[in-house]
Amino acid sequence: MDRRKFITSTGAAAAGAFLVNPVKGMTAGHSGTAGKKRLALVGLGVRGTGMYGHNLMRDYSDYVEMVAVCDQNPGRLEVGREMIGVECPVYTDVEELIRKERPETLIVTTWDDTHHEVVNKGMEMGCDIIVEKPLTIDEVKAQSIIDTEKKYGKKCIVTFNYRYPPYRARMKELIMEGLIGDVTSVDFQWQINHAHLQRYMTRWHGEANRGGTLWVHKSTHHFDMVNWFINSEPVQVQAYSARERFGDKGPFRGKNCRNCAHTSKCPYYWNINDNERLRRLYADNEHYDGYIRDNCVFRHQIDSFEKHSAIVKYASGVYLNYSLTADTDYSGYWIAFNGTKGRLEARALGYPRKDHIDITFTPVSIYNDKPAEVITVPFAPGGHWGGDPIMNDKLFKDPDMPDPLGQQAGIRDGVMSILIGIAARKSATENRAVDIGGLTSLVPQAVKPPFPG
Ligand SMILES: NC(=O)c1ccc[n+]([C@@H]2O[C@H](COP(=O)([O-])OP(=O)(O)OC[C@H]3O[C@@H](n4cnc5c(N)ncnc54)[C@H](O)[C@@H]3O)[C@@H](O)[C@H]2O)c1
Repeated sequence: MDRRKFITSTGAAAAGAFLVNPVKGMTAGHSGTAGKKRLALVGLGVRGTGMYGHNLMRDYSDYVEMVAVCDQNPGRLEVGREMIGVECPVYTDVEELIRKERPETLIVTTWDDTHHEVVNKGMEMGCDIIVEKPLTIDEVKAQSIIDTEKKYGKKCIVTFNYRYPPYRARMKELIMEGLIGDVTSVDFQWQINHAHLQRYMTRWHGEANRGGTLWVHKSTHHFDMVNWFINSEPVQVQAYSARERFGDKGPFRGKNCRNCAHTSKCPYYWNINDNERLRRLYADNEHYDGYIRDNCVFRHQIDSFEKHSAIVKYASGVYLNYSLTADTDYSGYWIAFNGTKGRLEARALGYPRKDHIDITFTPVSIYNDKPAEVITVPFAPGGHWGGDPIMNDKLFKDPDMPDPLGQQAGIRDGVMSILIGIAARKSATENRAVDIGGLTSLVPQAVKPPFPG
């Protein structure tokens, strides 16, 4: 029987056990081959197969061992493992994977709305967790993770890679050193260009019950950055958001992009089959689970937004003025911290990409006679302005590496960042200010508790 037929007819879990020789007799908490950390990866989409799959094995295989991989789609599981380039058992069921392979740590790169299932199951069965942002998409799922962590006492890290680019670390240092005194307010605008938003809207990210809207899926990064920079937790959110072009606002719609009758007149048309990696991972395997990667951006199910504005009040008294403009020609952001001794700001352009960031410090001066100081920080090599390799070194190479800026994030930070988005979503829908306290059992603190929270 060939491998594809075998997987289709019996399930990938059995196929994995049949085709490879799983490591026997290991228990969670023991290191694997030559002291390597025993990891398992759950969710073999682009993120899983890329950053935590192929790249992880390329850069960290001296330190970690991939003992198994899991995806509920047996076709993607098979292709994903091949793309990662590992010879390990494959599973469609995470519980079976943990029972048979006993990984020490689960890396969770599944859909946002299924993170809690895998995270909770992993902790219950004795694993530490590394989970992609957003931790989850609503307050009920967030509470289930808080409760599970408390009950089982396992370590759960949320991969906020946006904390790690060297120039952001420098800004954090400058704020911690008191350069601008006490921060009183933050101005933060983030822009997503049309192509990037199109990539969200073709997928589950466009549907609130899958990705929590961009208030959660995308803004979790931004809210976490602010929480971390100012070292405080949010107490109240007032927000507005709207959709004007996508979903039911569109002029026509088709089943999906590649076979749509409106391709010649649709500004968002693309053909997934032109991209071999995406075709092999998604289009070739959609018959297993109906996960369509090139859905119509005008489908009626879309209830995510394009424009977002929020004011967030922190327990420390800081105000954050935030906007996410997710349908524009421009890609980048601008952030400014106003403090009692001056103002610190940075502006980053997605394209054309420079090789450095200029951080500007303007001291307080009513006559504008103190010149602004420019602090230039070069980008480091690697994804997300050089942040990804630094985060991964701490995660996989040297977990004891000192963390003077508190860059590693746990469940509390993961929850606090999504709660701002969840409160913003409620605020915009119900047209009222929404308190963060009471959404979960976590009580916002004026000074953010250090990791693990
Ligand atoms: N930090 C970042 O910059 C960044 C960038 C991209 C994606 N992400 C996050 O990474 C995660 C994955 O993103 P993606 O683009 O690869 O998504 P994707 O939809 O391409 O892949 C997710 C995979 O998870 C599988 N899956 C879903 N639920 C499962 C379950 N319960 N058990 C086993 N498999 C399951 C799906 O079949 C799919 O193959 C998301 O949470 C996303 O928000 C983070």
